[in-house]
Amino acid sequence: MDKVVALTKRRGFIYPSSEIYGGVSGLYDYGPYGVALKRAIRDLWWRHVVELRDDVVGLESTLIMPSDVWAASGHLEHFVDELRQCEGKCRKRWRTDHISGDRCPDCGGPLGEPRLFNLMFKTQIGPVEDSASVAYLRPETAQGMFVDFKNVLSSTRVRVPFGIAQQGRAFRNEITPGNFVFRLIEFELMELEYFVKPQQDEEWFQHWRSERMRWYTDVLGIKAERLRFFDHPKEKLAHYSKQTTDIEYEFPFGWGEIEGIADRTDFDLSVHQERSKTDLSYLDPETNERYLPWVIEPAVGVDRIFITLLLDAYDEDVVNDEPRVVLRLHANVAPVQVAIVPLSKKEDLIKVARQVQASLQGHFRVEYDQTGGHIGRRYRRQDEIGTPFCITVDFDTLNDRAVTIRQRDSTQQERIAIANLGERLRDLVG
Ligand code: GAP
Repeated sequence: MDKVVALTKRRGFIYPSSEIYGGVSGLYDYGPYGVALKRAIRDLWWRHVVELRDDVVGLESTLIMPSDVWAASGHLEHFVDELRQCEGKCRKRWRTDHISGDRCPDCGGPLGEPRLFNLMFKTQIGPVEDSASVAYLRPETAQGMFVDFKNVLSSTRVRVPFGIAQQGRAFRNEITPGNFVFRLIEFELMELEYFVKPQQDEEWFQHWRSERMRWYTDVLGIKAERLRFFDHPKEKLAHYSKQTTDIEYEFPFGWGEIEGIADRTDFDLSVHQERSKTDLSYLDPETNERYLPWVIEPAVGVDRIFITLLLDAYDEDVVNDEPRVVLRLHANVAPVQVAIVPLSKKEDLIKVARQVQASLQGHFRVEYDQTGGHIGRRYRRQDEIGTPFCITVDFDTLNDRAVTIRQRDSTQQERIAIANLGERLRDLVG
C-alpha cells in the first residue's frame, strides 16, 4: 500500500486535499492521470450498466436534499456509527466495530461509553436555520432515484423490470476515514436501482451478483483470485435490506468491500409514498396489476475501484538487469493507452511523431512524451503510469514510414507501417 500511495503522488494520480494547509484526513484531490483513470472507470460502468442495455435509464439528482427525504429513508435515524472516545492521552475516536476491548488501540487509555453518531453533513437552505430549511448532503445517490421514480415513469417508456442509474458525489462524515482513498469523507458513487416485480427479486439479485462480478474480471481485468462474494449475515443487514452480497477484494489490509448488491425490497418506495403522500405505485400495462416494485441495487464507489485497480496492477520486475516498477493496468482503464515517444528532438522526427499523435488522438487516450532523456527512462515512466503501448518514432521511420510498438508487460517490440498502426492498436487495446 505504501508503495502505491507514493507512486500516486509521484506520478500525479492523487494529492492530499488542501495539502499546503496541512491536508484533511479523508479528503483527496485527483491529479491529471488520476482524473483520466477515474473517467475511464465511470465511462466503463456507464457503458455496461446503461448504454449496452435497453432497460436502464440515467438520472442526475441534486447533492443537497431536504430533511424530509432523509427522515423518510431512515437515514436520520439509522445512518449512524457507534463510536467510543479515548479518555486517555490521545483522545482519539474509534468506531466500535473496528476495535475490540475497552482500551484505546493507539495509546492504551480507557475508552468512554459508546455513543451514536450520524454520518450525514447537515446544512441549511437560505439565511435562517429553522426546521423547514434543514437539508443534508447526500450520503448515497439512491434516494434521488426513488424520489424521482414517478417522474421517470411518467416521462419515459420504461416498463418493469427496468433500472435508473446515477453517478455522483456522496458525503459521509466518517469517524475513521483511512486506508488512503478506501474510506473517504467525500467520494463518488455509481448506483443502479433496478425495479422488479415483487416475486422476481431473487432472480434479479442473482443476475446482478454475477453480472457485476463479471465486470470486474472481464472489463476491468482485476485478478479473479483476489475477488470473492461475501453474503451479509441477517443480523448485520442495513435497515432497508432483505439480503446483501458484497464483492470483496483482498487488500493489503485484508478482505474489504468494493461493491454492495442489496435487495432493498419495496422499502424505499413505500416510505416515500407514505411520507410524501404521493402514489408511487406502478400499473402493469399487461396484467393491469398495480404494485410497488421491489429494488435490486448494485452500488459502488469509484474511489474504491480506483485503489483496487492500482493495488491489483502494481508490480516490480527486472528489465535489462534494471529493476522497474510497472502498473499492469488493463488497456481499458489505463490513463494513457498509447504514448508517442520520438527517439530524438530532431525536427524531422518530431514532425512525424506529431502526425502519428494526431492520427491516434480521439481514438485512444494518447500522450506525447518528448521530455528528453534516454528512451529507456521514458519507457520506465510510462510503465509506472501503466501505459500499455509506446510508439517509438526513430530515424528509420523517415525512410520506411514505420514505427515500433513497445508492449509494457513483455517489453517486446514490433515494427509496423504507420498506415496500419491505428488498426493494429485497435486490435491490441480491444
Ligand atoms: N446505496 C447503498 C449504499 O450506499 P454502501 O455499502 O453504504 O451502500 C456503497 O455504499 C459503496 O460505496 C460501497 O460498496 C463502497 O464502494 C462505497 N463507499 C461507501 N462508503 C465509502 C467511503 N466512506 N469512502 C469511499 N467509498 C465508500
